[in-house]
Amino acid sequence: MSEKKHMAVAIDGPSGAGKSTISRILAKELGFVYVDTGALYRAVGYYMLSNNIDPKDADTVVAALTDLTLEMRYVGGEQQVLVNGADVGGYIRTPEVSMAASAVSALPPVRQFLLDTQRRIAATENVIMDGRDIGTVVLPQAELKIFLTATAEDRAQRRFAELQEKGIATTFEEVLADMQKRDYDDSHRAAAPLKQADDARLVDTTGFTLEQSVATLKGLVEEMMA
Ligand code: DC
Repeated sequence: MSEKKHMAVAIDGPSGAGKSTISRILAKELGFVYVDTGALYRAVGYYMLSNNIDPKDADTVVAALTDLTLEMRYVGGEQQVLVNGADVGGYIRTPEVSMAASAVSALPPVRQFLLDTQRRIAATENVIMDGRDIGTVVLPQAELKIFLTATAEDRAQRRFAELQEKGIATTFEEVLADMQKRDYDDSHRAAAPLKQADDARLVDTTGFTLEQSVATLKGLVEEMMA
C-alpha cells in the first residue's frame, strides 16, 4: 500500500460565508479535489423528504439509513452525490432540503454514516474540504484549517442572490431567518457542533468581494505551502 501523504485544507464556517464558491476556485488553481460535505448531508435530508420521513424524527431517520447507499464521484472534476445510484445534484439546494440537512446532521448516527466517505477521499487525494466539523472532527490533521465567516446579513444577501438566480421563490427576510435558525442549530447541537478549531485561522469576509476572499485564502494556502 502506498504511504504517500496527501495534503488537506479544511474550511469550516456557517452557511453563506462563501465556503463552496471560494473552495471550488482555490481547488482548481491548486489542482486539489474540492469536497463539498454539505452536499452529503443535503443528500441524506433529501432522501428522507422523498420518502415522507420527518427529518426531525430521529428513530425513523436512523432506521432508514440501512436502505440508503450514498456515493460520491467526480465527473469532469465536478462532485456528484448519488443516492441509491441516482445523481441528486439537481434537487438538494432548495430551502426545504437545507432545513432537512441541518436536522439530520444533528444525529450522531448520520454523522458516523458519512464519516468514512469523507475520510476515504482525503486519504487518496489532495483535498480542499468544506463543512462544519472538518477541522475539528473529520480531518483534525489537516495542514491548514480556515474558519470562514461573515455577518448573517451579508451571508443572507449572498444566498438570496444565489436563490434568485436559480429562480427559487423566496424573500430576503425568509433567507435571513432560515440562516439564523440554521446557524443556531448547527452551533448548538451536541454532535460535532460548528465551532472554530483551536488551530484554525479566522477569516471574516464581511464586505469582501469574491476576488478579495479568494485572494485572502490563497495567501494562507501559499503561506502553508512555503
Ligand atoms: O454547507 P451546507 O449549507 O450545504 O450544509 C447543509 C447542512 O449540513 C448544514 O446546515 C449543516 C450540515 N453540515 C454539517 O453538519 N457538517 C458538515 N461537515 C457539512 C454540513
